Amino acid sequence: MPRTEPPAPRAGAAPDDRFFRQIVRSMRNGVIAFKRDGTLALMNDEAYRMFGLTRSDADMGRAFAEVLRERPAVIRVLAGAFELSHLPNRAELRLPDLNRVVGYTLSQVKDERGDTIGAVMFFKDLTRVEQLEERERLRDRLAALGEMAAGIAHELKNPLAGIEVMAGLLRRQVPDSTQAQALLADIMSEAKLANAIVVEMLEFVRPIRLQVERTDLAHVVHQSITLAESKVKRGHVEVRVDLANGLPPIDGDLNQLSQVFSNLLTNAFEALEGKGHVTIRAALSAIEVDPAMVGPEAAPTQVVVVDVIDDGPGILAEGTDKIFDPFFTTKPQGTGLGLAIVRKIVDAHDGRIDVNSASGQGTCFRVTLPVVSAPAWFK
Ligand SMILES: Nc1ncnc2c1ncn2[C@@H]1O[C@H](COP(=O)(O)OP(=O)(O)O)[C@@H](O)[C@H]1O
Ligand SMILES: [Mg+2]
Repeated sequence: MPRTEPPAPRAGAAPDDRFFRQIVRSMRNGVIAFKRDGTLALMNDEAYRMFGLTRSDADMGRAFAEVLRERPAVIRVLAGAFELSHLPNRAELRLPDLNRVVGYTLSQVKDERGDTIGAVMFFKDLTRVEQLEERERLRDRLAALGEMAAGIAHELKNPLAGIEVMAGLLRRQVPDSTQAQALLADIMSEAKLANAIVVEMLEFVRPIRLQVERTDLAHVVHQSITLAESKVKRGHVEVRVDLANGLPPIDGDLNQLSQVFSNLLTNAFEALEGKGHVTIRAALSAIEVDPAMVGPEAAPTQVVVVDVIDDGPGILAEGTDKIFDPFFTTKPQGTGLGLAIVRKIVDAHDGRIDVNSASGQGTCFRVTLPVVSAPAWFK
């Protein structure tokens, strides 16, 4: 018995209009279609969102140039749709005022006879893709740069040590010439300085690998004072250490943390120029955890807050945003790497660093470190 088939759709039959509209509405790409006379025939929600416009019932049938008048860059693209013989298959449109990058294709709509009756633009928000790629590129560039810097620094260390040693030998051969003695002393101190820069540079570019253990903060503080004194002259600067009773040991790398505080101390000594006070104060504290992040019963995170305070001249107003940037320095012989290294080490410990400074009223650097390091799955 012959089955009754549903009638086959005739070519050119009217599409199911409602279904078609739903498709367009649900599409995660933006669509804008317009007729030959420039009137808008279709613009879906995603298109409104991406171009930062609100839909109005009156939009359909109006000139697209009018509906999109706040987006001249889009109008320019659409206006070219009938003029170009080769329409871009994949092009990008930047909308700087919306901070958005849009990837689009443009096609002409033809009727059965092949006449152009309209045009349609399909597009997708590429902003996030673009940002990720940019970050990736930056990371690659930094890694390459870091490797190169580490290589150069390493190569420079030996000749610099050579210069210093040979200048020392030469000095012994001309004990009577005060002029030569002075020049050679200068050569040696310049070589030493260059070496210090190279060492700092190596520290800065080297990826951090923490040796985390239960670390006593008193130990860190004392080690960092000794380290700072070996790097710069302390003069008559008085150093006060004020550690709260019963501070628990923290999860951290003893040597790296000592480096943090010795860098902060060297800066304080340099700012004080031989006279004044530095206070290192540490206390236990807690920061509330966002309950949405960890669940309602999560306890506040225990942290140790360490302040390094000096009563020096304070940070120059134009400096406060930049002091953590690598190579930012206001000192004639500075490298500008001290605080960049500090930030890198503090970040590696999941801590934070803040600075408070007023001209003429000294400077306070506050380092906040978690007592217990976050489990790996949390990072
Ligand atoms: N305790 C401080 N008092 C005043 N200025 C400071 C202090 N610590 C840092 N700075 C400012 O921050 C800059 C950057 O510091 P740093 O990264 O250690 O590099 P450097 O010490 O080589 O200049 C310094 O040049 C200085 O201007
Ligand atoms: Mg410094």
